Amino acid sequence: MSAFHREQVLSVQHWTDTLFSFASTRDPGFRFKNGQFAMIGLEIDGRPLLRAYSMASANHEEALEFFSIKVAEGALTSRLQAIKQGDIILVGRKATGTLISDNLLPGQRLLLLSTGTGLAPFASLIKDPEVYEAYETIVLVHGCRQVSELAYGEHLVERLTGDEFLGPLLREKLVYYPTVTREPFRNRGRITDLISSNRLFDDVGLPPLDRETDRVMMCGSPRMLEDLRDLLETCGFQEGNHSEAGHFVIEKAFVER
Ligand code: A2P
Repeated sequence: MSAFHREQVLSVQHWTDTLFSFASTRDPGFRFKNGQFAMIGLEIDGRPLLRAYSMASANHEEALEFFSIKVAEGALTSRLQAIKQGDIILVGRKATGTLISDNLLPGQRLLLLSTGTGLAPFASLIKDPEVYEAYETIVLVHGCRQVSELAYGEHLVERLTGDEFLGPLLREKLVYYPTVTREPFRNRGRITDLISSNRLFDDVGLPPLDRETDRVMMCGSPRMLEDLRDLLETCGFQEGNHSEAGHFVIEKAFVER
């Protein structure tokens, strides 16, 4: 048995010069938990070329979806950005990852903190009805350099808010906070600064960070993750993993090339 499923590309959407998303068919045997990732790629000269990609689709959805950067000289993304409807991609059979609810202690508020394509696992998690059952409030923060880079997340949240089934859950519990660092926008600044200054919570009218009630998942640029980890640990938060649940969990956004 091959280590991969061969899936057909169903659609591709280019958001900016550096960001695109694509959907593919999903083998009925491919199981995953929302927030997990798998190895995704293309067959190049008879060999698989793969990188880790978080599923941006939820596990109750029929199709798979991924959100990717494009790097002109990147071994995989330079080719992947050219895929079209009907092309074949490889999807590893095994999904894994730490951004799953089981790795967190019970809490009341879930903070999903992302930069760039680190949004992908949270695109999956905000479609999970169990997440809305487990938490009173879910705060989704997406930080980017430019406003145009927010588009995938903005469209997704808008679409889900109008969804017949998920819409009422999002409207009751999801707070979406896009923020930009390098040009004017209604929310500005790095996630770390927005949390340590309380600006994020003040802006949306919620209480400040609190270890007793808050659980945090983060995904994105490695330096942002390091700084956020320091910030949370200073506040007494402990990192969770598969063997022991904690107050926060971390996954870097994988594909850099
Ligand atoms: P900034 O523009 O101030 O560097 P990148 O494209 O480099 O991955 O960055 C994505 C977003 O993450 C940008 O808004 C960037 O802000 C922010 N960022 C980068 N490094 C950090 C960090 N150490 N802490 C918080 N945010 C960061």
